[in-house]
Amino acid sequence: MAEFQALLDFPPAPKLNIYGKLDPRKATAEELRGQEVFFGKAQCAVCHVPPYYTDNLMHNLKAERFFSPKMINGRMASADGPIKTFPLRGIKDSPPYMHDGRLLTLEDTVEFFNLIQELKLTDQEKADLVAFMRAL
Ligand code: HEC
Repeated sequence: MAEFQALLDFPPAPKLNIYGKLDPRKATAEELRGQEVFFGKAQCAVCHVPPYYTDNLMHNLKAERFFSPKMINGRMASADGPIKTFPLRGIKDSPPYMHDGRLLTLEDTVEFFNLIQELKLTDQEKADLVAFMRAL
């Protein structure tokens, strides 16, 4: 129920149509390229499904593949296990990111998923993805 409430509390996203996709008449070229990467090469939409950009399902991103356990800010960083996909509507207004706030900027989250999904995104694709998420 709290979650349903949260869905209704999203801030307005004037560039999105009723399906949660960009209205090309309102969006910039950069945002539109970002949307293409989000739904295409980067496959973010497999889990972050429009219009709210979540599938409401649990996923194990297995970030621990990429580091060895160590203490960070007094907490043992190790396997996180399955976590529910966070919605991305209004995302620019809610840093820090991830369940433990480990990432401070949207740029960081793109770097994170670039690593986790082994995407090999170009700098341009990364910047476009951030521009797209700022419009959500
Ligand atoms: C396999 C499913 C999956 C894919 C693919 C995926 N995500 Fe996520 N995303 C998640 C989950 C699960 C979380 C929450 C993880 C956590 O808190 O540790 C999340 C969290 C986030 C967050 C932080 C949200 C918040 O409120 O803190 C952002 C931003 C994000 N994802 C963007 C992306 C982008 C951009 C891509 C594509 C490059 C992507 N995700 C691909 C499942 C996915």
